[in-house]
Amino acid sequence: MVAQRLDGKVCAAEVEKDLLSRISACVENGVQPHLAVVIVGDDPASHVYVKSKVKACERLGIRSTHVGLPAASTEDDVRKIIGSLNEQDDLHGILVQSPLPSHMDEESLTDLIDPMKDVDGFHPQNLGRLVQGRMDGMLPCTPSGVMRMLSWAGIETEGKTAVILGRSRIVGMPQSLLLGSKGVDSTVTVAHSRTKDTAELCANADIIIAAVGRPEMVTEEWVKEGAVVVDVGINRVDDSSRERGWRLAGDVHPDVAKKASWLSPVPGGVGPMTIAMLMENTVRAAEQSIES
Ligand code: GUN
Repeated sequence: MVAQRLDGKVCAAEVEKDLLSRISACVENGVQPHLAVVIVGDDPASHVYVKSKVKACERLGIRSTHVGLPAASTEDDVRKIIGSLNEQDDLHGILVQSPLPSHMDEESLTDLIDPMKDVDGFHPQNLGRLVQGRMDGMLPCTPSGVMRMLSWAGIETEGKTAVILGRSRIVGMPQSLLLGSKGVDSTVTVAHSRTKDTAELCANADIIIAAVGRPEMVTEEWVKEGAVVVDVGINRVDDSSRERGWRLAGDVHPDVAKKASWLSPVPGGVGPMTIAMLMENTVRAAEQSIES
């Protein structure tokens, strides 16, 4: 079997196209959707991600405000910025790029974001709704992007066994809730660094979502013939054959394409979907500000 490409770029372009009319409707109501992105420090990968988010805003006619703070900023500096963004009536979405410098407590800062502006879906109120099975809050962008991509490709999830590699706050945990939710109906196992039989779990899975940040960890031997494999990993690995000295690698080895029925590429898979879902959450927050 040769895997079909689970093309996040194409799917994201469709999501973005559908947003254009919603954005126009907001503007006709006197509201331009507006996203603030807060980044602390100089982690190069985070700056690349933030740039892509700002570029997506430009593409769609969403206003963006970029707040960059030096790594030596205090947690209190970030608190004050979140407080002032919460108060700004013409701003609908707030995203604090993760990871923050290690002297800051990400969770307690997330708690301060107005849940209606929490376009990352990480506030306890939004995550709590997700645990309750309510899909009407803000949903975390990467996991909801994965779900959108699966349904776009017509991939059946009901009654399937899904293994999620990684239990992060950003991907693994919310992904497990979405895949196990009513109407999606997969049976979910979350594997992590202390799991003993990860390869065997994967080899029996109908769906594998790899989100661990370990280059090409999932090999062909781990994958059942015909499984659906979604690669959330995006890792820089040394590659002297490239002029820049590195290349991007996912958490899934490319040879998995020989066995999987579907495989998402890196880049061009989950990454564009994360951004598309962030844009969708921002538009939703703007719409809700009009309704309220
Ligand atoms: N870092 C990696 N992914 C994400 C994300 O989806 N949101 C935020 N805020 N930071 C991230």
